[in-house]
Amino acid sequence: MSNALADTIDEVIVDPKTYGDEHAYHDAFHWLRQNDPVHWSEPADYRPFWAITRHADIMAVELNAANFLNDPRQFLVTTADEDALYEQTGSRKFAENLVAMDNPKHKAYRALTSAWFGAKSLRSLEDEITALARETVDRMIDTGGTCDFASEIAAWYPLRTIMIVLGVPREDEPLMLHLSQKLFGSVGGADGMAGMVEAFNAFNDYFSKVTADRRVNPRNDVATILATATIDGEPIGEAERNAYYLIVAAAGHDTTSSAISGGLLALLRNPAEMAKLRADPDLIGTAVDEFIRWTSPVKHFFRTAVADCEVGGKQIRAGDSLMMCYPSGNRDEAVFEAPFDFRVDRKDAKKHLAFGYGPHLCLGNALAKLEMRILFTELLRRVEDIELAGTPTWVEASFVSGVKSLPISFRAAQVET
Ligand code: HEM
Repeated sequence: MSNALADTIDEVIVDPKTYGDEHAYHDAFHWLRQNDPVHWSEPADYRPFWAITRHADIMAVELNAANFLNDPRQFLVTTADEDALYEQTGSRKFAENLVAMDNPKHKAYRALTSAWFGAKSLRSLEDEITALARETVDRMIDTGGTCDFASEIAAWYPLRTIMIVLGVPREDEPLMLHLSQKLFGSVGGADGMAGMVEAFNAFNDYFSKVTADRRVNPRNDVATILATATIDGEPIGEAERNAYYLIVAAAGHDTTSSAISGGLLALLRNPAEMAKLRADPDLIGTAVDEFIRWTSPVKHFFRTAVADCEVGGKQIRAGDSLMMCYPSGNRDEAVFEAPFDFRVDRKDAKKHLAFGYGPHLCLGNALAKLEMRILFTELLRRVEDIELAGTPTWVEASFVSGVKSLPISFRAAQVET
C-alpha cells in the first residue's frame, strides 16, 4: 500500500475514475482502514465529510437513525452541482424519496411497500422471474457463443424484473434503461447535475401517466399501490409518489446487474470457485451473498449528524456529514476472514453491508437475491466452458458502479431446457 496515498486520499475517494479501477478504490479504502478509519476529508470541489471505512462504524452510524439523518445529503455531488440543483429546483434535495427521508415520514412511506418487497410476498413472482431467467439464458445462447455479458445479458434481466414490479410494458424498457443509466451515470460521473435533472423530469412525466392509468385500471403491482396510497387518510403527494417510482425503477437494476456481471467475472477469475459451485448448486444462496459482498455496487451513502457525538474514537460535530464506504466495510479484516479472497462458500458472506443496514436497509434486497439465485442456477445449468474473451471495463462513477463490459465466450450445455 502506497504512502503516497496519504497526500492524495481526499481526492482519490471522490474521483469517479477511482471507481473505474477495481484496485484503486480497494487500495484507498484499505489504506484508510489501516491508517485513519474515520477520516476527515476535504476534497476540492466538494463539501467536506467524514469517510467511515470500518464495518463496525458503518453499522453503528446506520443503526442510530435518530442522530444520523439522510436529509439533506445522500451521495457525493460537487458543491457546484449542489448549488446548481438549488438554483434549478429551490431545494438541496434531489428528490423526496425513501433515501432522502427521515422518521417519521420515512417509516410511513417505507411501510407502503415493505410487505410487497418481503421475501414471502415475492414468492408469487418466482415463476415469472424463472421464466425471465430462462429467456435471458436463451438470449445468451442465441448470441452463438460470444457476447458482452454485462451490456447484452446482465443489464436486461434486472431491468425487465423491475418493470414487472412496476407494471411497465416491455416496449418502454429501452427508455427506462436509458433514463436510469443517465441518472446514475450522472451522479458522480461526467454529465453532472444537468443530465440528472433532465433524466429526473423525464421519469416524472412517464410515471404521472402510469398513475393516471392505475387509478382506472388497478393491478397487483407496486404502481397500483403507489397510485392509490394514503397516509393518515390523505393521498400521498405527487412529488413523493413520483420520487418513489423513480427510486424503485432506478435503484433496482444497475445495482443488480453490476452484482450479476461482477459475480460472473469473479467466478471466471477463480475457476476453483466456479467448479465448487457447479459441483454443489445448493451453495447458490451463499454464493449470491458473496457476489454482492465482493462487488458492492453501491459505493456509498451519506448521513448527517444531528448532535455532537463520537464515531470510532473521532469527535463528530452536529451538521457534519459522513460517507458510509460500503466496499470498505465489505473488505474489513476485522469481520471477514481473508476478505480479498472470493469464496462461494464463505461462512461470513451474509455480514456484508452492500445493502446498507438498519432502517434504510435496501428495500429490494430480497428481490435482488432472488433474481440472482434464479439466474445463476439457470445459467450454470445450461452454459458450459465460460471464458473471458477480452478485457473487462468498469463504470467510472463514485456512487453506483461496476463492470461495464464483460466479453465472454461459452458453449451451450446439452441439457433439457
Ligand atoms: C445487488 C443489488 C442492490 C444493491 C447492492 C443495493 C444497495 C442499496 C443500498 C446500499 C441502499 C441504502 C441502504 C442504507 O442507506 O442503509 C439501498 C436502498 C434502497 N434500495 Fe437497493 N440495492 C440493490 C437492489 C435493489 C433492488 C432490486 C431494488 C428494487 C426495488 C432496490 C431498491 C432500493 C430502495 C427503494 C432503497 C431505499 C430504502 C430506504 O431508504 O428505506 N434496491 N439499496
